[in-house]
Amino acid sequence: MPHAPDRNLALELVRVTEAAALAASRWVGAGDKIAADQAAVDAMRHMLATVEMDGVVVIGEGEKDEAPMLFNGERIGAGTGVEVDVAVDPLEGTELCARGQPNALAVVAASEQGTMFDPGPVVYMEKLACGPEVDDELDLNAPIEETLETVARAKRVRPRDLMVVILDRPRHDEMVKRIRAVGTRIRFIPHGDVSGALMAASPDTGIDLLWGIGGTPEGVLSAAAFKCLGGQFQGKLWPRDDAERQAAIEAGYDLDRVLLLDDLVRGDNTFFAATGVTDGDLLRGVRYQHGGARTHSLVMRSKSGTVRTLQATHSMEKLGELAGTRYD
Ligand code: FBP
Repeated sequence: MPHAPDRNLALELVRVTEAAALAASRWVGAGDKIAADQAAVDAMRHMLATVEMDGVVVIGEGEKDEAPMLFNGERIGAGTGVEVDVAVDPLEGTELCARGQPNALAVVAASEQGTMFDPGPVVYMEKLACGPEVDDELDLNAPIEETLETVARAKRVRPRDLMVVILDRPRHDEMVKRIRAVGTRIRFIPHGDVSGALMAASPDTGIDLLWGIGGTPEGVLSAAAFKCLGGQFQGKLWPRDDAERQAAIEAGYDLDRVLLLDDLVRGDNTFFAATGVTDGDLLRGVRYQHGGARTHSLVMRSKSGTVRTLQATHSMEKLGELAGTRYD
């Protein structure tokens, strides 16, 4: 007997990312990443309360730079309905928003309770990601030269034809040298490796691979997206110093372990929604027009494999009646 289609929570979560994007978009280019983040957090929290779910925040954002966060362990949602782990990044790329640069997003993911990886005290993660057309299994521990060979072979191109997206950070200098020695091209991004990972998994972005050390929360969010999009995503915790290393070991984390997709998000019912704040490679940012605004979002669910892009038109007057001055 075929199962009756069940609820796609992502279609409700997209209202949450739309709200965060609309609120953050007022701060685009204003040079104040904390205020932009705060606006996104407030709008997200406000809208999450309306979603019929009993959610617990496993991935909140903010420890790294003491941003205003939705706290880990905080219960969110209306408190009824499905029990889910929730990962939030109300404003992924706070600096991108503050400077009006591409690829700032509002992001939420959810999966059955107890299925999301809790990164504990470790703030950064080494990441490797590529799209579903690479069927040979990659290994984050393999030399990068070998990985580039594997990806090139799968795509029937030469390693020098590939494009790797990398966060522009001094900690990547050594690896950048090795990638350059192979001849592979690099796109450096100032921030936003969730966007980078999504580009690596999506066709026609010109990006073949993501590598680099970025935030662990962003790693888990990216893994949730990969559950829906397909492709490979791997991560390895990357402690910043001895104290963080020690804290992780004491908490029982294996720092040598390569975490695969199913280690980061278990189960087969994962939901992902993201809305563009600034214009980006995959999503347009918030655009204002007479009387309102338009948003552009990605809405996905792993169980069905449905990937939607959703354009919404918002009436500022009507939203104002419902939500006050939040989006003004
Ligand atoms: P924020 O939105 O918290 O500012 O994070 C942006 C980001 O660039 C992430 O995409 C990335 O994973 C992380 O920061 C990298 O951290 P850092 O800027 O400390 O190198």
